[in-house]
Amino acid sequence: MASVLPQVTLTGGEVASTPLLASGGVDALAVPVGPAADGDEALSPGSGAAQAAARFGIDLAGLAERAGMTGKAGEAHVVDLPRTVGSAVRLPWHDLPVRLVLVGTGAGTTTDLRRAGAALAGATRGLDRVVSTVATSAADSASRTAEVVRVLVEGYLLAAYPTFTLASQPPEPAAALVLLGPDGTRAEAAVAAARAVAQATWLARDLTATPASTKTPAWLARQASRQAKAAGLEVEVLRPRRLADEGFGGLLAVGGGSANGPRLVRVTSVPQVTAARHVVVVGKGITFDTGGISLKPRESMVTMKTDMAGAAVALATVLGAAALGVPYRVSAVLACAENHLGGASYRPGDVVRTHGGRTVEVTNTDAEGRMVLADALDWAVTTLAPDVLVDVATLTGAAKVALGLGTGALLSDDDALAAALVTAGDAAGEPVWRLPLVTEYEPYLDSALADVRQESHDPRSGAGAILAALMLRRFVGPRAEPASVPWAHLDIAGPARSSKATHEVPEGPTGFGVRLLLSWLSAPTLGV
Ligand code: BES
Ligand code: MN
Ligand code: ZN
Repeated sequence: MASVLPQVTLTGGEVASTPLLASGGVDALAVPVGPAADGDEALSPGSGAAQAAARFGIDLAGLAERAGMTGKAGEAHVVDLPRTVGSAVRLPWHDLPVRLVLVGTGAGTTTDLRRAGAALAGATRGLDRVVSTVATSAADSASRTAEVVRVLVEGYLLAAYPTFTLASQPPEPAAALVLLGPDGTRAEAAVAAARAVAQATWLARDLTATPASTKTPAWLARQASRQAKAAGLEVEVLRPRRLADEGFGGLLAVGGGSANGPRLVRVTSVPQVTAARHVVVVGKGITFDTGGISLKPRESMVTMKTDMAGAAVALATVLGAAALGVPYRVSAVLACAENHLGGASYRPGDVVRTHGGRTVEVTNTDAEGRMVLADALDWAVTTLAPDVLVDVATLTGAAKVALGLGTGALLSDDDALAAALVTAGDAAGEPVWRLPLVTEYEPYLDSALADVRQESHDPRSGAGAILAALMLRRFVGPRAEPASVPWAHLDIAGPARSSKATHEVPEGPTGFGVRLLLSWLSAPTLGV
């Protein structure tokens, strides 16, 4: 689990003079190329590109243009340089790397540079060592340079992810990256931050890609414990006996149909600072979602091993937060169960008493996510004293229909918290769009038999993602009122998986949410 990230090193110097390029140990030199400036025909060479053109004796801008490049971020063109035979001719690049990589950097925005890093990783996979200049100019401040390094390396490492496979032939690893130019403590810290984010994302992707035959709730709890202990974090695992003693009716009902019993896992990172605020991230950890008695159609079930993506994101977030040294106490709460069919499955019509005593009338066992989250949210509120609570879940097909595969749904009563999460998502390249918690829809969840109905009693009510969030809100506070603790819900049913690789996001499990939450935890304010 969790392969090793490629090495990234910083080395001072310039393309014109660095002995590194003539050392024989470099497979490729990569330089940035931007779009033509206004009124200009030729593409704009980025930092190091002019020196590379001079040292190699090659018109790189012309070459980029003939290759059809426009300088857009995401473009990367590899030039394989010829070598001579005999000694009659000596080419200017005879002692230099045999490949040049031209990397489009677009307008140089954060998103552009992350994509440029990703394109570089894709173009050089399988090589041993790549040297790259970065898209900065001499006039840039140390903080701008550090920011460029951070996003470029983040994009590189996210795209370097060796897509999870159990095939005997593993994919080719990405090259070790040497950044030529920036050095010093700020740039080093930027590389370390990018590594922490990428490592956490890789872990979330790997866990999410693991088949459900391996990934039982107990297995997931074991992985969490192992990772937590290795990082020196607190961990607590609640097994079925204790879940029963403490009234976790939601987890036990959903997990009842499976031979693999449910688990509740808490992992906590305690910072150096005293009196730190407590951020709790609750994740939906359904290791496989058959739908239960309300069985899913067979096509909808194929990808349902990924229904624990929220739990994977929560775990990766607390590990990433510890690695980044964020100044908060951060806890991940993983609500793990397998929603299966069996003689002990919960049924439509059942009434389930959740942690804390609220009752839920079951109407569709495929709405299992809110059952396990109900327990986990109440437990978090009543035992962990959170200052802010965020849950992450592949909760509704409706969120996926509304926002597609690239954007998550965000629901919260707290405007400042919502704004902070939207900002963090945009900055991190994981956008979320806020949907309203329409209190007028509460009556759809009315039940004569219990405190709340599991899903709408009106099949035409629509608003599936909103109703699910309204149902969750009941477990963070009283009915039809704002949550008692600042709370936000992230429905990642769409972006948790990708149907095709784009830029830094691979096909399959994406780890969506890790970057957003780590960006939020690293921002100057949480919004609460
Ligand atoms: N895990 C699914 C939601 C889902 C669907 C995630 C597609 C990713 C892709 C969830 O447990 C579910 O089945 N939700 C139901 C809720 C409904 C029964 C109220 C849904 O969205 O149809
Ligand atoms: Mn379901
Ligand atoms: Zn589900």
